[in-house]
Amino acid sequence: MPNPQQPHGPLRSFGRIKSRPIKARQAALFDSLLPSIAVPETAFDPRSLKPDASAVWVEIGFGGGEHLAGQAAKNPDVLILGAEPFQNGVASALRHLEEAGASNARIHPGDGREVLANLPDGSIDRLFVLFPDPWQKARHNKRRLVNPEFLAEAHRVLKPGGRFRFATDWADYADWSQERVLASGLFAWEAGREGILDTPPDDHLTTRYEEKKLGDIPPVWLDFVRV
Ligand SMILES: C[S@@+](CC[C@H](N)C(=O)[O-])C[C@H]1O[C@@H](n2cnc3c(N)ncnc32)[C@H](O)[C@@H]1O
Repeated sequence: MPNPQQPHGPLRSFGRIKSRPIKARQAALFDSLLPSIAVPETAFDPRSLKPDASAVWVEIGFGGGEHLAGQAAKNPDVLILGAEPFQNGVASALRHLEEAGASNARIHPGDGREVLANLPDGSIDRLFVLFPDPWQKARHNKRRLVNPEFLAEAHRVLKPGGRFRFATDWADYADWSQERVLASGLFAWEAGREGILDTPPDDHLTTRYEEKKLGDIPPVWLDFVRV
């Protein structure tokens, strides 16, 4: 039976939410910038946030926000919603957005599954999950973001033909995701980008975690289309 205290079940997909103290300038952005660009916390139509948006993209687990802010700056016509529970990451993303002067991004300082749950069916064009926590120990695999519930929700909010990009530098997580995403029957490979690819897509922007090279393989990308 669903537990109202845990709308997404007991799955724990993230670790720490704060590490080092946040610099004063970044902390100030929590008051000055975040309230004006926060993703609504109840059901909402993303089009209401930017009626002239040519597309709506969502990034879950944006870390320091380099990709989120970079894509927002490169694609000013697109509305990008990002979610990240790690406070230092949110602070960093706010700084990147301010520096980029990007006004087309919205941030949820929390669990990305809450954002998906509040979106209407077929309301987004792209979903990014880039270098998610690998939870590589077998007993922690169940914490991985890519699981049947997440894939069903991703399928629900994406438009038919919408795109889902997953990247990792852990071999087992790449195989795990390929297997589960395709077995779900909800996604297919994006044409021209079939399989687990070690070449970054043309529109990829390098992330901070990717640069750390903490995984057991060089980065790989899996580009899917919602069927
Ligand atoms: C390994 S980091 C990668 C960050 C960033 N994508 C990058 O490549 O630099 C994974 C991030 O996903 C976040 N995360 C994990 N579960 C999440 C969830 N359910 N919703 C939003 N963010 C999540 C974590 O807090 C962490 O910052």
